[in-house]
Amino acid sequence: MSPQPRSPHLRRAALSVLAAGALVAGVLANAGPSQAATSQPCDIYAAGGTPCVAAHSTTRALYGAYTGSLYQVKRASDSTTLNIAPLSAGGVANAAAQDSFCSGTTCLITVIYDQSGHGNNLTQAPPGGFNGPDVNSYDNLAGATAAPVTVGGSKAYGVFVSPGTGYRNNSTSGIATGDAAEGEYAVLDGTHYNGGCCFDYGNAETSSTDTGNGHMEAIYFGNSTSWGSGSGSGPWIMADLENGLFSGLSSGKNSGDATIANRFTTAVIKGGPNLWAIRGGNAQSGSLSTYYSGARPSASGYNPMHKEGAIILGIGGDNSVGAQGTFYEGVMTSGYPTAATENAVQANIAAAGYATTSITSGPAVTVGSAVSLRATTACCTTRYIAHSGTAVATQVVTSSSTSTLKAEASFTVRAGLANSSCRSFESVDTPGSYLRHSNFQLYLNANDGTSLFAQDATFCPKTGASGTGNSFASYNYPTRNIRHYNNNVYIASNGGTHTFDSATLWSDDASWVVATGWAS
Ligand code: AHR
Ligand code: AHR
Repeated sequence: MSPQPRSPHLRRAALSVLAAGALVAGVLANAGPSQAATSQPCDIYAAGGTPCVAAHSTTRALYGAYTGSLYQVKRASDSTTLNIAPLSAGGVANAAAQDSFCSGTTCLITVIYDQSGHGNNLTQAPPGGFNGPDVNSYDNLAGATAAPVTVGGSKAYGVFVSPGTGYRNNSTSGIATGDAAEGEYAVLDGTHYNGGCCFDYGNAETSSTDTGNGHMEAIYFGNSTSWGSGSGSGPWIMADLENGLFSGLSSGKNSGDATIANRFTTAVIKGGPNLWAIRGGNAQSGSLSTYYSGARPSASGYNPMHKEGAIILGIGGDNSVGAQGTFYEGVMTSGYPTAATENAVQANIAAAGYATTSITSGPAVTVGSAVSLRATTACCTTRYIAHSGTAVATQVVTSSSTSTLKAEASFTVRAGLANSSCRSFESVDTPGSYLRHSNFQLYLNANDGTSLFAQDATFCPKTGASGTGNSFASYNYPTRNIRHYNNNVYIASNGGTHTFDSATLWSDDASWVVATGWAS
């Protein structure tokens, strides 16, 4: 994982490509056989004189010559870990190695390695001003298969951040501190966000606590309006500068900061002495727009800045853990990158070819059909998910059960309220009410039309965790699957802090046979 050796020859070649205004996505013709064939984002930043000092991606190498580890996964079955490297120098992650290692169990992303050679790896975030939900108040780790994509046609996985998930490094090297200049970009899922604080990537406090205005400089993405906002209804790219998400010169709304929600979104923040900018674009094509470029915010404490140089992903500077989002790749640079350099990076990202892929697997769960969901654990094979009012539990249902109970155990399959590739389950006897989780337990509630309800009521069918039937991954907490425990029904992870997260029998408890409905 050493930094990529760069000959003056290659550097000149890369610079001349930039100077010519060409988009640096292809082969550098002058590169010798021992050199990387392709210039990747951090080669482009280096050629521009603003080298990466942190480079994180679970999907691809960010240097043309990088062959080291991209990330590490840990599997639940035996707690062993595996490092995932690119398929070739500068290439896409070896997702097949992960799939084989995690087959028959579940995996979490434990480390996102720094490719820059500065050792600025991201690991499970510790508690700070706020506690995380995991053991010892650490934040949760992301599920390793929760954000599948293809990059240039090859499968890869992003980092899916549910509320409570976070990564951090409070002991970095080479990251900007004080008022020093830096650049940052990240490729994110522009359709996965919320208004919680704060889905961030970038510079934050080394203490995990709020040490005052100007102590952070991170990319923020989401639709929080608590501090700042832009035009439209969001989401927006803003700068988290601590005690404020900034969309322009002043606190509050700056209409120059446009709503941006491309499925793959490039977000850029950079800052130096009394100068900063917000830029963004579609990570699949086209160029970056500049949403703000100018002086530091007029509010006190942000000029000069007091950056501390820690790195956060998915959380606020004080370990606020209310936000959600998905991260694919991102870097932090030393120095204020030029717009031309960032434009070349955007061209490289677009050429990399991010695309969506299926987020479901297993037996088809047909929209419009009436179904009953039967437990498969040996204890419980006559039990089905049923509601009684708003309460949900498994109940024994047989052909001689009352028609009331049969109807309570029957649901009409709908396209997922939050994502039509997934599914929602509407009660047969209470139309307009759906199975949804709240505080990780299942209830039957009327659809209130909110985005949160839609997400809480959306479950993505997968091949059954035990190999039988289907599992149903929660759309907004995909490490959690519908699971019965003591005959109550939860969304549960395979091991975790709640009693109902017990790894014992998790695979069986989380596998369901989708039977023809007892009623329709
Ligand atoms: O600046 C917004 C948030 O305010 C920061 O991320 C957090 O540290 C504080 O709560
Ligand atoms: O079930 C987890 C969360 O709990 C849901 O997303 C939310 O509705 C509740 O706060």
